[in-house]
Amino acid sequence: MRLVHVTDPHLTDLDGVGFFDLRGKRWSGYISWHKNRRKKYLPAVLERLVTAVKAENADQLLLTGDLAQIGLIKEIEQAGRWLGELGPVEQVMLVPGNHDVYAHGSADNVQREWAKYLFHDLGSGSDDFPVVRKLEGVSLIGLSSACVTPVFTASGKLGQEQLERLSVLLEQAATERQLVCLLIHHPPLPGMTNRRKGLADAAALQAILEPFPPMLVFHGHLHHNREQQWGDSRIYCTSAASSISDASYRVIDIEDNGEFRSFRMALKSLAMESGDELEFATVDEQTWQLQK
Ligand SMILES: [Fe+2]
Ligand SMILES: [Fe+2]
Repeated sequence: MRLVHVTDPHLTDLDGVGFFDLRGKRWSGYISWHKNRRKKYLPAVLERLVTAVKAENADQLLLTGDLAQIGLIKEIEQAGRWLGELGPVEQVMLVPGNHDVYAHGSADNVQREWAKYLFHDLGSGSDDFPVVRKLEGVSLIGLSSACVTPVFTASGKLGQEQLERLSVLLEQAATERQLVCLLIHHPPLPGMTNRRKGLADAAALQAILEPFPPMLVFHGHLHHNREQQWGDSRIYCTSAASSISDASYRVIDIEDNGEFRSFRMALKSLAMESGDELEFATVDEQTWQLQK
């Protein structure tokens, strides 16, 4: 099975956004986009990354949020059209980021416009988070850590109900001997980032993961390529998919060899070829095996 992780495309355009769209927290997000973000996150880079990702023929494309900038309805609609071109709902799994659920009204728009990609599941019958897709011995579990936060903060929260449902799902997956792969926008464990940007209930999530640790965790939010090993779990953050400096994606191949599962992870990052063509080259590769 082949998984591809892509995150933080920040693909939406705020040109033409009006004064009345920018009440409250959206003002600060708009200024940040206008001064910095629109120069760092480019549609041309994302377009090239999408072409490269499509050529990988993934069984599942895992998207861990931040498609938008300030969660306006016009952005959510634009990102919805982009999702439609990215791939079929059966092969694209999405969890939201804090820039999607940015301010008042964003969450409802996200849930309505992106419902197919957020809640399409292959086995759990769920229409709320966590969402599960069960495929060939692998359970992909999507969590929503995105919530509206005060100005100049970008923290996330899962909440007690979602954590309780996750605990049940992890136990179920262990009983069914399913390998678990977790998708979440924010870094999942305590200490992975500062308080202003971190997951408020990371300690509670860690306590729930400890008895049934997932094999793989994919997250975004940090806009850097990073990895952390936690016991046998590998936690991967991938850089922003439209970043002019280091747009990246990860390809993970999982093979079931009876007694063992073998894994191969390739990190592919933006490289300038001669003639200034944007290309993606493998910058890191890892292989490992685990007993089933
Ligand atoms: Fe982001
Ligand atoms: Fe984020």
